[in-house]
Amino acid sequence: MKIAVAKEQDPAEPRVAATPDTVKKLKALGAEVAIEPGAGLKSGLPDADYAAVGATVAADALSGADVVLKVKRPEAAELSAYKRGALVLAIMDPYGNDAALKAMADAGVTAFAMELMPRITRAQVMDVLSSQANLAGYRAVIDGAEQFGRVFPMMMTAAGTVPAAKVFIMGVGVAGLQAIATARRLGAIVTATDVRPATKEQVESLGAKFLAVEDEEFKNAQTAGGYAKEMSKEYQAKQAALTAEHIKKQDIVITTALIPGRPAPRLVTAEMVKSMKPGSVLVDLAVERGGNVEGALPGQVVETNGVRIVGYTNVAGRVAASASSLYARNLLSFFETMVNKEKALAVNWDDELVKATALTRDGAVIHPNFQPKSA
Ligand code: NAI
Repeated sequence: MKIAVAKEQDPAEPRVAATPDTVKKLKALGAEVAIEPGAGLKSGLPDADYAAVGATVAADALSGADVVLKVKRPEAAELSAYKRGALVLAIMDPYGNDAALKAMADAGVTAFAMELMPRITRAQVMDVLSSQANLAGYRAVIDGAEQFGRVFPMMMTAAGTVPAAKVFIMGVGVAGLQAIATARRLGAIVTATDVRPATKEQVESLGAKFLAVEDEEFKNAQTAGGYAKEMSKEYQAKQAALTAEHIKKQDIVITTALIPGRPAPRLVTAEMVKSMKPGSVLVDLAVERGGNVEGALPGQVVETNGVRIVGYTNVAGRVAASASSLYARNLLSFFETMVNKEKALAVNWDDELVKATALTRDGAVIHPNFQPKSA
């Protein structure tokens, strides 16, 4: 069994899909591991560290590999190096990318989308959305602090007192919770909002204040899967009125709101941005999904009337070493379920984790959610 660790081709992707630590464990499963030169460099992991644990570092690492570990989906041009039938584990970004899925099917690879992993107890160790969102939530606060011309904690000094920063977190999933915790650790006064009632207690347990329109619709806003629903126009209007009043008084706003399979909800209008004091900062973690903040641009810091809107993409990648270490362990945990006692590859096609994540197999797109539309 040969496993290859691919070097990411996207120059904006600093993460790597295996670390020396996970390579050791892959070898213990009976695998031979090959890694493309430089694959871990941007995560602070030089080739020598992989070689030291017994990986082969080679430009043709992918050739003949039964399994390829990656961060991002391989693009059509990369796939020619993959063996037909190879299993590929990566963040596949499958929604709206039919041509890319077809390219993987045509190349004959068996692709697994890590982000489709069910959120059940057994799969928590494989949950890449959580491991990466947690780090993004942390980094969003750091990025906000960097753009902010003041300090977070209240400081009483001989030269006078500076007030604590007011931080408002919108969307309290995995990223939002970590953003609250991080802003609190830095000494800010933190408030947070979400449409799911379950978040109220979580916010308060982190020492922040909860703010939301708590009507009948709010009480039913959580799906059985634990995600948010798209809210009615009426609710959105009430939410906007509440937000508008609150935002004026905030120094930093961090938005993380997402709805699965839908564009990100627009929570902060240009008008609200305008109402903020010069020097205030907004960080939009949803910018890649359409953005929560009007005027946020992917990959950019936009300044209007002295208010900065931070729209960095791949925010987990901004703490690449930590992100790679957790992502690599997510992949390893899933891969372990695909190896039998005889140390051979044995994908259990009846396993719900496999069924939920498998996109392509034997030349076809097999996932029910991504079937090619019939003409
Ligand atoms: P997400 O990334 O899909 O969304 C982020 C947050 O935005 C959510 O809390 C959502 O309610 C909120 N949101 C959506 N529309 C909004 C609006 N109009 N205004 C304000 N907030 C809005 O969520 P994430 O981080 O993936 O977490 C979703 C749920 O899954 C949470 O309950 C989390 O605790 C749960 N979860 C369960 C896991 C497990 O059981 N293994 C693992 C990870 C998360």
